Amino acid sequence: MNLYIAVLPGDGIGPEVVAQALRVVRAVCEKFNHQLTYEYGLCGASAIDAVGDPYPEKTHQLCLRSDAVLYGAVGDPRFDNNPSAPVRPEQGLLAMRKKLGLFANIRPVQTFDCLVHKSPLKDELVRGADFICIRELTGGMYFGAKLEGDDEAYDTNHYTRTEVERILRVAYDYARQRRHHLTVVDKANVLASSRLWRKVAQQMAPEYPDVVTDYMYVDNASMRMIQEPRFFDVMVTENTFGDILTDEGSCITGSMGLLPSASVGIHTSVFEPIHGSWPQAAGQNIANPLATVLSAAMMFDYAFHLPDEAALIRAAVDASLAANARTADIQVSSAQPLSTSQVGDWLVDWIKAN
Ligand code: IPM
Ligand code: MN
Repeated sequence: MNLYIAVLPGDGIGPEVVAQALRVVRAVCEKFNHQLTYEYGLCGASAIDAVGDPYPEKTHQLCLRSDAVLYGAVGDPRFDNNPSAPVRPEQGLLAMRKKLGLFANIRPVQTFDCLVHKSPLKDELVRGADFICIRELTGGMYFGAKLEGDDEAYDTNHYTRTEVERILRVAYDYARQRRHHLTVVDKANVLASSRLWRKVAQQMAPEYPDVVTDYMYVDNASMRMIQEPRFFDVMVTENTFGDILTDEGSCITGSMGLLPSASVGIHTSVFEPIHGSWPQAAGQNIANPLATVLSAAMMFDYAFHLPDEAALIRAAVDASLAANARTADIQVSSAQPLSTSQVGDWLVDWIKAN
């Protein structure tokens, strides 16, 4: 197969983790005889520095003509404490999501047995937890009408029925492929936008009689996630709640460095780790590349429909964990941590040998 990938490394540790994921992708393509072509694009702070725009039109055109986008991370401390910066790296990510129509963000929260000891939760609570958060990604407060004045400011949590319905369909499809349990997370006791979500979900639920649908307020859901994470199978929620809950989800598993994501919708899908740009670690070759490597596995699954290739990447990751070939964030105390690129070396060697 011919595979054409846009590679957007972004800022901070983005380039380092993407480099290792790309090596893994190359190794898998060699093994399965795929013709891989990839092209780099600018985004985030590095794009602001180079061309003054965090998501340049050139990058957008590259994404549009690609089969998939492999994305690192954006963000830079130069902007974080400067609320009056005229343009911010994060705007590039938001522009990309909006212009590519990526309305569904799929974030699996899965624990690895050998890393349960790294979780802040008790072993017996977290072991076996395995759910997917489906976050709406192009609506809500992120994109609604805003006012940013000196004495007054607001963001509007605007949703249409069409937006709610299409994300719920994605969630129901996932629930059908999994354990047939969907939790719709909202704040319908307070917010009008949430009541629309709940109304639409209640109208759609009878179309999916094989799926158990339940409804949970977001404050309760955030508590349930740490009290009983195994309760969840698929959860679906709006943009802002999903942003917050998936950070919570990522730390349940023991390390943020492990969780991949896919953003899908109308145009080319984007695959990215859910962690940020970790600027303090940039250039040190210490960041965990596994979340990006696992995002590449999701890319083979969802963008290319090549499940064997995806499974091989996941098997390589499992083997590296079992062999303690791990970066410092997840290493056991008795073993030497590997660098970012050493984990990449290990994975590539394993793929070649298996
Ligand atoms: C995420 C990030 C982004 C978001 C930021 C970087 C704009 O936190 O992908 O979760 O808030 O969506
Ligand atoms: Mn976030």
